[in-house]
Amino acid sequence: MIILAVESSCDETAVAVVQDGRKVLADAISSQVELHRLYGGVVPEIASRKHIEAIYTLADKALMDAGVTKAQIDAVAVTYAPGLIGAVLVGVNFAKAVALALDKHLIPVHHIRGHIAANYLAFPELKPPFLCLVVSGGHTMIIDVQDYTKMEILGTTLDDAAGECFDKVARVLGMPYPGGAALDKVAVGGDERKYQLPRPNSAKNPLDMSFSGLKTAALNLIHHAEQVREELDVPSLCASFSGAVSDMLVPRVKMALEATGRKKLAVAGGVAANSRIRRDLSAMAEKLGAEVYLPPLSLCGDNAAMIGSQAYYEYLAGNTAGMELNAYATKSILGETL
Ligand code: KG4
Ligand code: ZN
Repeated sequence: MIILAVESSCDETAVAVVQDGRKVLADAISSQVELHRLYGGVVPEIASRKHIEAIYTLADKALMDAGVTKAQIDAVAVTYAPGLIGAVLVGVNFAKAVALALDKHLIPVHHIRGHIAANYLAFPELKPPFLCLVVSGGHTMIIDVQDYTKMEILGTTLDDAAGECFDKVARVLGMPYPGGAALDKVAVGGDERKYQLPRPNSAKNPLDMSFSGLKTAALNLIHHAEQVREELDVPSLCASFSGAVSDMLVPRVKMALEATGRKKLAVAGGVAANSRIRRDLSAMAEKLGAEVYLPPLSLCGDNAAMIGSQAYYEYLAGNTAGMELNAYATKSILGETL
């Protein structure tokens, strides 16, 4: 089954062609990051306009790269939630128009389910059940992937997402948006013991997380140093911060592996590119005798191939839509409107 997949939920416009959920025939992407960098973050209105400008050419390019004609497509898949509403709407309306004009199935895909599916592209042997740590700019969750379309949220952040915190701290340190990757690089060579940052425990569910206290502590430390004109050791602060985020995530993932008895751990989302988190997860999984799946950096960030992969399994589960399909700024990975 050949699926044309569309992703436009944030600041990347992407169109891919994916066969049977596992084989990427084409993966075209146009990033707006440089543009939003001028403003220190994504400007939703600009994002929507740029998606409109890019999406038609990208779809043509994806088909050409794949060597597939419009007639050979079996379905059109699209991220329908969550994301910047104007941005998601561009993809949804484009996909609806293509599906209607070509008389193809229309498959709505939840963006985070797509991130999880990036692992199916990177690891052909990986099949549910497995545990997945989702760490992106907007989400931080520990998910029990019981089947391709059946999931349970075991733990989630109660406030900020890990990526948001990386970006905020990086921004205050003067790094360009999105700062997570830059902060990760600067942390190499830093002494993580130099600055003490908190690792707060959250409320009732031990698998839930809270990042706002850690973020505020890091920002206060930076502002205080500015006020007293103390020179910050930036690599060490970055190393401490990455270590603290990792310490919030990895022990909880360990607890979740132990509680569920799962022997496979996958990672998804942009923050899954973080070198410290990757290292700590690998070490923890090895100790537990669990297999760890770390997708390549190219598949960690937003792309349309991951949407095409998940779409195949949504189709097999009967999850298609008609022209009534709408876009949603927020929606649970389980499909409920929030
Ligand atoms: O999944 P993604 O591409 O977009 C969302 O769906 O949110 O994730 C983007 C996030 C940004 O916050 C970015 O700073 C972060 O992933 N990120 C990183 C690294 N690479 C990207 N954070 C920490 N370390 C990295 N190496
Ligand atoms: Zn994403």
